[in-house]
Amino acid sequence: MAENGALAGRRAIVTGGAQGLGEAISERLAAEGGSVAICDIQGDACEELSTRLATTYGVDTVGASVDVTREDQVAGFFDRVAEGFGGLDLLVANAGVLRAHAIEEFPVDDWRLTMEVNLTGYMLAAKHAARHMIPSARGAIVQINSKSGKKGSFRNSAYAASKFGGIGLTQSIALELAPHGIRVNSVCPGNLLDSPLWVNSLYEQYSKRLGISPEEVRKKYEDQVPLGRGCSYDDVTNVVVFLASDQASYMTGQAINVTGGQEMR
Ligand SMILES: NC(=O)c1ccc[n+]([C@@H]2O[C@H](COP(=O)([O-])OP(=O)(O)OC[C@H]3O[C@@H](n4cnc5c(N)ncnc54)[C@H](O)[C@@H]3O)[C@@H](O)[C@H]2O)c1
Repeated sequence: MAENGALAGRRAIVTGGAQGLGEAISERLAAEGGSVAICDIQGDACEELSTRLATTYGVDTVGASVDVTREDQVAGFFDRVAEGFGGLDLLVANAGVLRAHAIEEFPVDDWRLTMEVNLTGYMLAAKHAARHMIPSARGAIVQINSKSGKKGSFRNSAYAASKFGGIGLTQSIALELAPHGIRVNSVCPGNLLDSPLWVNSLYEQYSKRLGISPEEVRKKYEDQVPLGRGCSYDDVTNVVVFLASDQASYMTGQAINVTGGQEMR
């Protein structure tokens, strides 16, 4: 076990941890010596990941099916984890969905789903994490936001609105929880060009819409980044570990861009 890891002995919950960035965050927390509870609507994948991380890193893990929009499921899982781990030090609120449409044809059900998962799901996770952190007067909450939480996103209004809202929630609960020794911050990644979201869906969609090849789509998005490449999982997990650690003990209410210079505010 990584006894000297930056998060040795810390007890964490990651939402939306079954795949993509959430899986990479769960693995990085385990590699840093943390106990990790992984939840997602894909329960089987969480259980498999949890078993793999326990074997590889020798840390306590648990994986389960949880829909972050269902308060009973969130509350029940967080209670079970806090009891099993003996407390809770870190929440990474990562679960998210993206439904993109032009505004004049946006199906309201897709709008509501985006708000429910990205904003209400973050609120419910933060609420039940805070309930377990307040008694020990310490803890860190890190929300995975997006550069779309800082700047409008073309034909992607629900996602951007939900992420802008997430920053408002981060700033507000940072004020509320500061007296309890709990820090709350957001991380705003740029485009994760190797993530399932891009590989399984966006390259094809943009390729069709723009009439160019998937390779040209990738190049187009890389060219928008001053540092000339897409965002990697390591780029994001480095900042998550920092914000979760005592190195960031004077930081709360922040929304940190990890965009290769694409977003600067
Ligand atoms: N991929 C990118 O380019 C990118 C860029 C910036 C920010 N982000 C953010 O990173 C986070 C992770 O995105 P990703 O790219 O890994 O996407 P992803 O779709 O691969 O992973 C999201 C995970 O959330 C889970 N999820 C969806 N609805 C849920 C619910 N109701 N309850 C619990 N889990 C649920 C999914 O099952 C999935 O495992 C999201 O918050 C996303 O907005 C992604």
